[in-house]
Amino acid sequence: MSELEKVHAQIRKCRKCRLWKTRKHAVPGEGNPKAKIMFIGQAPGKTEDETGRPFVGRAGKLLTELLANVGLKREEVFITSVLRCFPPRNRMPKKDEINACNPYLKKQIAFIKPKTIVLLGNIAIKTVLGDIGKLEKIHGKKIKRNGITYIPTYHPAAGIRFPKLKKKIEMDFKTLLNQ
Ligand code: URA
Repeated sequence: MSELEKVHAQIRKCRKCRLWKTRKHAVPGEGNPKAKIMFIGQAPGKTEDETGRPFVGRAGKLLTELLANVGLKREEVFITSVLRCFPPRNRMPKKDEINACNPYLKKQIAFIKPKTIVLLGNIAIKTVLGDIGKLEKIHGKKIKRNGITYIPTYHPAAGIRFPKLKKKIEMDFKTLLNQ
């Protein structure tokens, strides 16, 4: 078992916060273990909880479409989220849940070694980069830290609700074309 697979096995049986009690499946993430580009969302939704796979519900369909727009397949990138267990009724992640889950994300980044990380929505941006300003100001900007280029953008779920934001995500994804 690779180091990355070991982390995923730990996530599947994790009990570090309350969410293990209500989850059906933990969702470690999936894709190429040597991906150059990684995508980080907020938390699994109902469909993800049922399948154990990231971004397979409505937001996932849009993410898959947004990837295809810039010539990327799900299998060649790595897709995960800040939380790995479904927060009941799709509520916002709590601080202690994020803190409990964050070491897994750090390990995944360390083992996959992506060149670029796309941060989908405020929870991913805040967790990974801290407070870097309002999303409407910072989305689509490349932020370099420790040899990794971060691209903050809106969460695909926001793109579903607001067509204007979908356009912005599409534009932000285009920055992936000229790396
Ligand atoms: N939204 C996320 O942030 N992650 C998923 O896996 C699904 C929906």
